[in-house]
Amino acid sequence: MKKVEDYVRSIPDFPEKGIIFRDITSVIQDPEGLKLAIDGIQNLLKDVDFDVVVGPESRGFIFGVPIAYNNHTGFVPVRKKGKLPCETISEEYALEYGTATIEIHKDAIQPGQKVVIVDDLIATGGTTEAAIHMIERLGGEVVKVVFLMELEGLKGRERLKDYDVDAVIKYPGK
Ligand code: PRP
Ligand code: MG
Repeated sequence: MKKVEDYVRSIPDFPEKGIIFRDITSVIQDPEGLKLAIDGIQNLLKDVDFDVVVGPESRGFIFGVPIAYNNHTGFVPVRKKGKLPCETISEEYALEYGTATIEIHKDAIQPGQKVVIVDDLIATGGTTEAAIHMIERLGGEVVKVVFLMELEGLKGRERLKDYDVDAVIKYPGK
């Protein structure tokens, strides 16, 4: 019986030397891999009461929407700058080289709503931290953050120490 981690393809030296890229395309293109991934994330949420799922563009959409559908909640996209058509708020966050900006629609989260963030991967935690800031600025409460994969060596979890963070697959390295 295969596990979800068996479907993740690890590519050495991509996108640059020394990085092992954890590829989810090999997970989601396989019916059993896709099911194991969604079921694994869903299982981390079995005792969590929430109103809405937020997923960061683009891989967060892949896993966030089925979770929202399963739990009969809405899904709110966090998008890269310039993609959302209505009034937005934004956050800038650090990348290895330079910065990136993400946005969310101002009317997407109502004050007091319980929010779960879903993404494929936590590395440094920078994307998630920026998403949390925006959700909180809109009055939402982040009740749990779930990932398919965690790169424990990058210590993203420490950056999110005030939050309930969990991952289906934990890689000890970077
Ligand atoms: C990747 C990944 C996570 C984020 C993790 O997204 O999908 O969203 O980086 O890194 P962090 O914890 O250091 O922030 P990326 O920005 O490459 O974009 P994509 O999802 O559109 O591929
Ligand atoms: Mg991403």
